[in-house]
Amino acid sequence: MTATPPQPPDRTEMPVADLGRRAYSFLNCLVAPRPIAWVSTVDAQGRRNLAPHSYFTIASAEPAVVSFTSIGRKDSLRNIEATGELTISVVPWRLREAANLTSIDAPAGTDEFEVAGLTPVPSVAVRPPRVGEAPASMECRLVEVRSFGELPRSGHVVFAEVLHVSVDPAYLAEDGLPDLERMGNATRADRMNWFSLGEREAITRPVWGRQEPAREPGTART
Ligand SMILES: Cc1cc2nc3c(=O)[nH]c(=O)nc-3n(C[C@H](O)[C@H](O)[C@H](O)COP(=O)(O)O)c2cc1C
Repeated sequence: MTATPPQPPDRTEMPVADLGRRAYSFLNCLVAPRPIAWVSTVDAQGRRNLAPHSYFTIASAEPAVVSFTSIGRKDSLRNIEATGELTISVVPWRLREAANLTSIDAPAGTDEFEVAGLTPVPSVAVRPPRVGEAPASMECRLVEVRSFGELPRSGHVVFAEVLHVSVDPAYLAEDGLPDLERMGNATRADRMNWFSLGEREAITRPVWGRQEPAREPGTART
């Protein structure tokens, strides 16, 4: 007699089509926590705009390309399409309330730097200013926008090449890289929740042929 293979635990199975409008909230719980891009732009008349976007990641390292997604067509997206430029600042935990204020659904042309009492600091390579209070910023040029779906929930992925980076020296580690713990990046997660940084542990990447013996999942390192 052959032994019965271990059965997977019971799960609630859901085709994404059955989730309907809840797919958005569901994915926000599964793909989390997410870093927050504090996106600054200017419109064709040079009026400032600032808004947080957590559908944000590195898309390519060489060339340096980042991406963020506008759900629906918003001012940030429209300004980027009009001018081809943006900056992305890091949102530290200490500035989470200010960052949240800049997500206000204000009419086009409203300066969210003013709304949140933040300092627009001139950039080096692009017209939109950086957030002066942020520990670090990237100055970027639009590469392309890739759109999915229909309004109002359509996703517009903005790919932007990073032309210039700036970091407050107080947040640079001895190896010349930004010190994440000192910057204290805020992240966005499920529902209305934000997360601060948690535990940190450096884990060596495995090299084929030199693997350490496998440990029981969940057991502590010695
Ligand atoms: C922490 C946080 C993260 C957000 N992430 C996104 C996002 O990834 N995509 C998006 O379209 N809106 C996101 N929003 C909502 C926008 O910030 C909000 O709709 C804002 O008004 C857009 O501004 P704009 O019209 O000036 O571009 C987020 C809001 C918060 C508070």
